[in-house]
Amino acid sequence: MELVALSPVFGFEVRGLDLGFPLPPDEAQGLRRAWSRGSLLVFRGQKMDDAALVRFSRHFGELELPPASSTRRAGDGGITTQPEIWVISNVVENGKPIGALGYGEAEWHTDMSYIDTPPTASVLYGLEVPPVGADTWFASQHAAFEGLPAELKEKLAGRRVNHDSSYTSAGELRSGASAPVTPDRAPGARHPIVRTHPETGRPALYLGRRRNGWIEGLKIEESEALLDRLWAECVRDDYVYKHKWQQGDLLIWDNRAVVHRRDAFDNAHRRVLLRTQVRGNKPF
Ligand code: SIN
Repeated sequence: MELVALSPVFGFEVRGLDLGFPLPPDEAQGLRRAWSRGSLLVFRGQKMDDAALVRFSRHFGELELPPASSTRRAGDGGITTQPEIWVISNVVENGKPIGALGYGEAEWHTDMSYIDTPPTASVLYGLEVPPVGADTWFASQHAAFEGLPAELKEKLAGRRVNHDSSYTSAGELRSGASAPVTPDRAPGARHPIVRTHPETGRPALYLGRRRNGWIEGLKIEESEALLDRLWAECVRDDYVYKHKWQQGDLLIWDNRAVVHRRDAFDNAHRRVLLRTQVRGNKPF
């Protein structure tokens, strides 16, 4: 297997592996090491069925069930047979979306950080992709933390931030949720605003998503001002890699180390991606 850097600060394209077949243990071990070190791995030209996607994802740990959304699931007429797979799509069949997030922009976020033990990895496989648009952007939160001015780092020491669970990254209320009255009353999970990567020891900013974020203990106005400043810093161009999708691309990223977002695209084109998420531990 060959690793080719995707950007000066993080990410590798991995060449020379066919993920449609079981991986020998030494190659799986090599991939886990590259993922911890690089935060994002990209594989091109893969042919995966549901079982192969789940088998590949399990090399990185036990799988977490998908987030709450109103889309069809395995066993409910969904396009996948595996309960661990979440469909991301704009396609509507028989009046019902086959997947989540539609065709609009998805804002910067970390997957499922509104639960106490957020997934370590997300795996995303491109079954059908539009010819233009829908690029997925990633920003290294190790680089972002390391680049903060010392006075800002000091302000963050020992602080926790609430990760709101009420909205999806596409701005839709989740099934069963109601809109929070103020950010300090939003549901979700509170995590250290700077987390330590358990395998590398490297610190990373861990903000989740901007909408309804709140830094515990601060007045709402103070928290809003500090979060605005941090979000402006943490997605600076020099920390970002933008992925242009081709059919058959498979990406795995480390939610402890990156945030991501997606561009909108023309709803006249179909986009169907399959995602799994690997169970995590409590951030520290
Ligand atoms: C996601 O946020 O997991 C989906 C990103 C995408 O649709 O490209």
